[in-house]
Amino acid sequence: MANYTATNNTQNSTIRSFRAVVFAALIALLFNLTSCNPKADAISPETETIVASSLRAVASSDSSNTLKGVASFPIGAAINPQLLASNALYKSALVKNYNSISTENCAKMNRLQPKAGQFNWTDTDALVNFARQNNMKVHGHTLIWHVAVPTWVTNFQGDSLAWEKLMKTHIQTVVGHYKGSIKSWDVVNEAFEADGSLRKSIWYQHLGADYIARCFQYAHEADPQALLFYNDNNSVYQTKKSDAVYAMLKNLKQRNIPINGVGLQMHITVNTSESILTNVIRQYASTGLLIHISELDIRMNYSLSTTFVLTDAVKNAHASKYKAIAKIYKGVVAKAQQFGITNWNLGDSDSWLLTESKSEDHPLLFDENYNRKLSFYGFMQGLTE
Ligand code: G3I
Repeated sequence: MANYTATNNTQNSTIRSFRAVVFAALIALLFNLTSCNPKADAISPETETIVASSLRAVASSDSSNTLKGVASFPIGAAINPQLLASNALYKSALVKNYNSISTENCAKMNRLQPKAGQFNWTDTDALVNFARQNNMKVHGHTLIWHVAVPTWVTNFQGDSLAWEKLMKTHIQTVVGHYKGSIKSWDVVNEAFEADGSLRKSIWYQHLGADYIARCFQYAHEADPQALLFYNDNNSVYQTKKSDAVYAMLKNLKQRNIPINGVGLQMHITVNTSESILTNVIRQYASTGLLIHISELDIRMNYSLSTTFVLTDAVKNAHASKYKAIAKIYKGVVAKAQQFGITNWNLGDSDSWLLTESKSEDHPLLFDENYNRKLSFYGFMQGLTE
């Protein structure tokens, strides 16, 4: 039995090495073709199709060649329960490739408690049940944020005690309802401004700067086993902001506030500097907290150009950036701190970026029909190497 396993392992690792070499060769070929050609934008579509189809052939030769199959940590996607129920291609891409679901919108306060004291669990329950049936975990997003606040909260009149009760009740009702089934939460989202100051959100205004620490305490009381995260955006570029978040994380840890991890959203572009990303991830990892790349998507059309053209060169840059993120994460974050990487949406047509800017973009790993894109293979290669 031991020999059999050892032989099997050797064979598997040989197959894996072979596959990695083939991936590397094909991606290198693609990059060389593009970078050596002064008219890279004019590369013929055939060249790209041939290379991409070779990659697909390699990948489909083994059913374990899926994102979750090659990753050594959880791979998540932000999911929309309506799309999941209505689109078989969406569902299939999710189930094949991912082992974690983040609740994109359905667990936000405006959706879970649209009226005071009236909780609507339907959509989030559906995701939790789906995850259970498909052996996936669920990451809850998000308990306290300055966006997606229901109108009754915006209009709420009360002293600080009444606000404290409102916030505590929301956190504890939600975390309590999903105790044992949602095992991790973004407790507070985006509490900082770009200049490093605390955002003067409705929560800050009524409850003061330390509302953040109390949110973690309330969530922990409701489910002591749940892993609790602080989640923020753009801190990957903004030194003042990333320093402020880092200082807060250290402060919370020193005070024994029950925080387990930090989410770096990672809404980036093909032009985002990899050395800056590396430094910021390293800085956060030095806290010893779990590190979640929690909302990964990569804009191709970073200048929001109205004349954007989807060239092979842009596709290559996109695939390469996805690969780089996976490699940086694996290289910089200690294994014990690797909570996972989550894509923010699945197919290009679901992306929040399209609704937000209205400019053309293709930020994700799957196209509008949930076919794997070149970037899927770039990301997979980064996860594999
Ligand atoms: O579902 C309603 C629909 O019934 C209505 O007709 C339509 C009219 O505007 O709105 C729809 O709701 C929209 C919802 O997305 C679903 O598409 C909301 O207006 C819109 O505000 C909401 O945007 C979400 C945004 O957060 C604000 O909550 C995005 O989908 C979601 O991807 C985005 O996610 C955030 C993370 O939570 C935090 N980090 C940044 C990230 C991107 O902004």
